Amino acid sequence: MRNRRDLQSGKIDLFRAIAVAALFAAGAIAATAQTMDETWLRHGYFHGFPPVPMHVRALGHEPIEKTAVKEIVNGVDRLFGSAPSSGGDGASDEIVVGTVQEFRSAYPKLNVPSTLSPEGFWIAEMDSAGRQLVVVVGGSERGVLYGAFALIRKIATISWNPKTTITEAPAMPIRWTDEWDNADGTIVRGYAGRSIFFENGKVRDDLNAVGEYARLLASVGINGCNVNNVNDAAPFLEPQMIQGLKRIADTMRPWGVRLAISVDIASPQKIGGLKTFDPLDPAVQAWWAAKADEIYAEIPDFAGFTVKADSEGQAGPASYGRSPADAANLLARALAPHGGVVLYRAFVYNNHLDYNDMKADRARAAYDIFHPLDGKFDANVIVQIKYGPIDFQAREPVSPLFAGLEKTNSAMELQITQEYTGQQRHLVYLAPMWKEMLDFDLRAENRATPVKEIIEGKIFNRPLGGMIGVSCVGRDGWLGSPLAMANLYAFGRLAWDPNLTAEQIAEEWARQTFIQDPHLIATVTKMLMQSWPAYEHYTGPLGTQTLTDPTGSHYGPGIEGSEHNGWGQWHRDDAQGIGMDRSVATGTGFAGQYPPEVAKMYESLATTPDNLLLFFHHVPYTYKLHSGETVIQYIYDSHYQGAEEAARLGEEWATVKGKVDPRLYEDVRARLEYQAGHAIVWRDAIVQYCLKESGIPDAKGRAGHYPGRLEAEDARLSGYKVIDVTPWEDASGGKAVTCVTPTGCSAEWTYTGKAGRFDIAAQYFDLQGGVAHFALDVNGKAIAAWSADATLPSGQPNGDNSTRFTARGPDGRGIDLKPGDVLRVDGTPDASDPAALDYIEIESLIGRD
Ligand code: GCU
Repeated sequence: MRNRRDLQSGKIDLFRAIAVAALFAAGAIAATAQTMDETWLRHGYFHGFPPVPMHVRALGHEPIEKTAVKEIVNGVDRLFGSAPSSGGDGASDEIVVGTVQEFRSAYPKLNVPSTLSPEGFWIAEMDSAGRQLVVVVGGSERGVLYGAFALIRKIATISWNPKTTITEAPAMPIRWTDEWDNADGTIVRGYAGRSIFFENGKVRDDLNAVGEYARLLASVGINGCNVNNVNDAAPFLEPQMIQGLKRIADTMRPWGVRLAISVDIASPQKIGGLKTFDPLDPAVQAWWAAKADEIYAEIPDFAGFTVKADSEGQAGPASYGRSPADAANLLARALAPHGGVVLYRAFVYNNHLDYNDMKADRARAAYDIFHPLDGKFDANVIVQIKYGPIDFQAREPVSPLFAGLEKTNSAMELQITQEYTGQQRHLVYLAPMWKEMLDFDLRAENRATPVKEIIEGKIFNRPLGGMIGVSCVGRDGWLGSPLAMANLYAFGRLAWDPNLTAEQIAEEWARQTFIQDPHLIATVTKMLMQSWPAYEHYTGPLGTQTLTDPTGSHYGPGIEGSEHNGWGQWHRDDAQGIGMDRSVATGTGFAGQYPPEVAKMYESLATTPDNLLLFFHHVPYTYKLHSGETVIQYIYDSHYQGAEEAARLGEEWATVKGKVDPRLYEDVRARLEYQAGHAIVWRDAIVQYCLKESGIPDAKGRAGHYPGRLEAEDARLSGYKVIDVTPWEDASGGKAVTCVTPTGCSAEWTYTGKAGRFDIAAQYFDLQGGVAHFALDVNGKAIAAWSADATLPSGQPNGDNSTRFTARGPDGRGIDLKPGDVLRVDGTPDASDPAALDYIEIESLIGRD
């Protein structure tokens, strides 16, 4: 609580500040107009007086310190509608920001902690000759900025207590996002439009959004950004591109975000005119050294290179019989004189594995390749390891390689962009999964060795380590979905402090993104926390990973798609059982890559946790889980549960109507409704697939029985043709109807169920390349009409684009039906979208408000 003097001074300051604020605001607007959503930096509004002095002053003159002042001014203004003045007379109450050195000379008596790390900060309130001072002391200019953001965050999340000093430092030095942008402006695995960095083979002229992105990153302590795709990176080392990259670096620098780029190890050959790219060739070494000099001449604080080599078609040292250490050290030696680092990705594997070889296992690759090289990497190399041994799946065990590198720096790579986790169309807050990875105790050397402490460098005494989040932001609202921004926020917060809980971070994010309404904050936090478990439930159960086709879009269900090919994302199901035997005794031996205690746990069926059972073992469908349920019944139950949980997200969001901006409300509402429908597609695909494969019925009678469903292929069709959908499990009964008649087609059913009031859902395929139109009528009376105008993957009807529209009648009160009523769907194709229809479903309103 503030005392009376504080309040009075707050009042006086407030009035004085209004005039200054007006001036400042005008200046700020002229300087930069915000072009993209500020998301969590919008901050909820408070009534009342700011709990801090209304003057802000920087002791230093560096741009980063100026940025820090501006953030405090803007932050207080947004929160309280009143901006402190920047600058100050040294005579009033004030917030003073600066580095340790600056404070020591300006305030020699101030007891600044002597151990402040360069990126850390110390915030304290004190009385100085009767004036209230809030000091934000940074270990360096970057620390000052992080302190400024922390101060505003604490106020915004109601956790600012002026009487408590705050000392913070990031847990790990490498806190980067990786963007997978191509020079042509497309983004690999990006789901939010085009690049903020590149267009037409060049760096964009307008880099406003880059500055705004750097600000978001800095606000959660991210200090590096690698701006280009890990594949096909050679053009990024061309001289004219380096000029463009310099502009990006200049734009991010005021936010303390350093530029990094992905490089192609074959560049000396591809763009350098050399005959070879052999890492041990002196001409190649000289080429890289000269290239590094060229970069640093333009970008003196360039952060370093990220490398994907010998992986998924990218060239690598293997072409010359050299190791990843040879390649990494080649680059490291070119960067070392300038202080740069190499992030060498451990994502190296053979994507032409033999499915019939029961010992073949992609999960083994990273450890098999990198563990023997431990100790062979230069000091400025960091091995960048995906959190799991496969590829960003909704559930994987943590990679054993984190314990397999004791004499090498390592960092964890995770994905903010939701490639295998719903591509931002599904709400999936990933922090709880990341936390499981970070907290997992690998028991290296039979002692407590949580993964987070390994990448912090604590366990094996490594100077460098960190977290890399593959972010892939684009121009359409950063990640394309407002609630997905919680993942970017959470990534930064966890890289700063992996001991925060996922729920704490969710709440923090909600408090800054929305208004300070307790119900709203609690609801959004709850929704976020429920979302990953729900997604796991309706997608890949028991450690089978995300059951999508790894050769396709990585989005909708494609269960067979991951089998019988060289990509190794197998789950090895057959009529007898399901799961991949990775035990040492009878399987691929992957379990043996973990330190002994963990290896022992995964080796045995009895001690493998249920949620990873099928990752480590092949079992009959009748195998009993620790919970007592059989595997097959769990598959049925979890999928029905997951679809219900997805539907609940929408119901929860409905309770915050009126408390958020109406456009935002509607945007999120529509997304959640889509997600609930797509969760049904996932549920049905996996359930009907496993029912057919196992031949074991669902004890609860649901699998394969859809009492309210009227299949399109069973309808009286006019113009529509029946087709087989591939894969079959992506359509109800494996079939759908498509229309090639430009004037349209129709499907008609006579209702034979009980009389009553119902919702009527239509499951249709929203294909790329056109906007088909649909209309539903009952006895010739129009009930609803909708368009297939979403942007979903694939030009063929399948689980990527199977979509649900639900007609709820006037005011959502349902539609009256009685036996003998004729239901009809008219579909009008457009371009290459054939208005394909799977079924309609008559849904009971029981249980709905
Ligand atoms: C995934 C993703 C690719 C990407 C690769 C990588 O496999 O689908 O697009 O290139 O990861 O991490 O390098």
